[in-house]
Amino acid sequence: MSETENTDDNKRRRRVTTPDKKVLRGDAHEKVRTAKKRSVQSARWLERQLNDPYVKLAQAEGWRSRAAFKIIEIDDAFKIFKKDAKILDLGAAPGGWSQVAMKRGAKNIAAIDLLDIDPIDGVEIFKGDFCDNEMQNAIIASLGGAPDVIMSDMAANTVGHRQTDHIRTIALAELAADFAIEFLKPGGHFVSKVFQGGSQIDMLNRLKHNFKTVKHFKPNSSRKESVELFLVALHKKDKI
Ligand SMILES: C[S@@+](CC[C@H](N)C(=O)[O-])C[C@H]1O[C@@H](n2cnc3c(N)ncnc32)[C@H](O)[C@@H]1O
Repeated sequence: MSETENTDDNKRRRRVTTPDKKVLRGDAHEKVRTAKKRSVQSARWLERQLNDPYVKLAQAEGWRSRAAFKIIEIDDAFKIFKKDAKILDLGAAPGGWSQVAMKRGAKNIAAIDLLDIDPIDGVEIFKGDFCDNEMQNAIIASLGGAPDVIMSDMAANTVGHRQTDHIRTIALAELAADFAIEFLKPGGHFVSKVFQGGSQIDMLNRLKHNFKTVKHFKPNSSRKESVELFLVALHKKDKI
């Protein structure tokens, strides 16, 4: 994606080239007034949403979240989705990644989140905590066989303390990685959100030991200012 801000003809317009080479022009930058009752932080969030071209493109293309573009870019780069694949979607709400996976040929998906997810054809939805053993057993059982892909976009609810938020999300990624090492079909793929500069060396080593290829990937649709990036582990080895 190339992003051009402050173009000559109109300094308040943005031009974005999306992964499928569509060029999207944002409307004039919208400002959000900070009403008395609205915190500065939520006003900033709303302003960013209103002016984010991926939010607009997601709405235009019928994706439930701008996050859909991250898995689109990951699949375009690494070809993780195969026809008739069984997939686990961890931290799935509101459902953008599941929508993309179904559109790209998945047979069935088990999707879990702490939050409600509106129904999606072909997707069995679980509301609960992935850290809960019973939930883990339920999602695996529902697929009717080992998953071909396990993808996790889980992010812990932020408490505002950067280091704490970071550690909690990394803990979710580690849990997902261990789960993938145990349950993924040989040859299967694992994708997980992680954070830059984390202390995930152990997890990385475990993944390298169990997968043929392990890479970090920062999609263009992941905000530049965000420390988020994705771990992509391809072709799980047969039992070692
Ligand atoms: C960035 S959002 C996922 C967006 C989603 N991939 C999409 O495309 O719509 C992260 C999600 O992780 C979920 N989450 C965080 N901790 C979780 C947990 N322990 N179990 C299940 N879901 C969790 C949050 O509720 C949140 O909805």
